[in-house]
Amino acid sequence: MSLGTSSTREIPDTGAMPQHIAIIMDGNGRWARKRLMPRMAGHKQGVETVRNVIKSCSDHGIEYLTLFAFSSENWRRPADEVSFLMQLFAGALEQEIARLHENGIRFRVIGDISRFESRIVKFIHQGEQLTASNSRLTLTIAANYGGRWDIMQAMNKMVKNSHGLSKQFKEEDLAQYLSMNYAPEPDLFIRTGGEYRISNFLLWQLAYTELYFTETLWPDFNEKEFDLAIQSYQRRERRFGQTSEQIQQ
Ligand code: IPE
Ligand code: IPE
Ligand code: MG
Repeated sequence: MSLGTSSTREIPDTGAMPQHIAIIMDGNGRWARKRLMPRMAGHKQGVETVRNVIKSCSDHGIEYLTLFAFSSENWRRPADEVSFLMQLFAGALEQEIARLHENGIRFRVIGDISRFESRIVKFIHQGEQLTASNSRLTLTIAANYGGRWDIMQAMNKMVKNSHGLSKQFKEEDLAQYLSMNYAPEPDLFIRTGGEYRISNFLLWQLAYTELYFTETLWPDFNEKEFDLAIQSYQRRERRFGQTSEQIQQ
């Protein structure tokens, strides 16, 4: 499947590795609570899982990994938790970018980063520039991201660039302005933590993605759990509206 084409129109090989995995990393707070620790301890442990999952994707030759780190709704959490998450994000950016670069990983962030403190914005821009020409794995962090925000910002850009000409816009017209226009749509979506919802993640791009939910809390999501998700994906038949018989021809 070539870059930029919609996976809703081209059917990937069944049984193959997913080219793009998108993950809602959920359950940090409950992981900590179970151990009578503050929620923050769960977030810290969650960063370890992020490191391991990046390595697993890299080892398996997966080309795109997209992680939901902070939603546009997460500002509603208690102020001390929001500020802890910001410090954790800033620290991870500061410490990890060089290592990502050494490992040939391209780093991108999607979301409205204008609301972040200037130090974080600076780390993001520096990291994106430093790693721009890497091609082993593209790691996208969704931060202050919302699927509806993404569609609306794309629509506003599309209309602005049409210079007021009234036009019947097509899906492709909008898709090129979405914040992940550099990646194919996700093949596999994973949500840990036992909730069965999308929580305003990639609404447009998940149209035909295979969904995988697990009760495992994010800090416990290890190599074995990762392999189970991949195996589940490989057992699916992606039909994109066609019949099973058509796919097997
Ligand atoms: C996910 O874990 C991390 C973020 C949303 C930042 P949670 O913090 O949502 O953990 P639970 O759902 O409360 O267990
Ligand atoms: C979704 O997790 C967002 C991230 C993982 C960053 P939440 O735990 O915030 O989701 P809801 O609000 O409970 O659906
Ligand atoms: Mg949660």
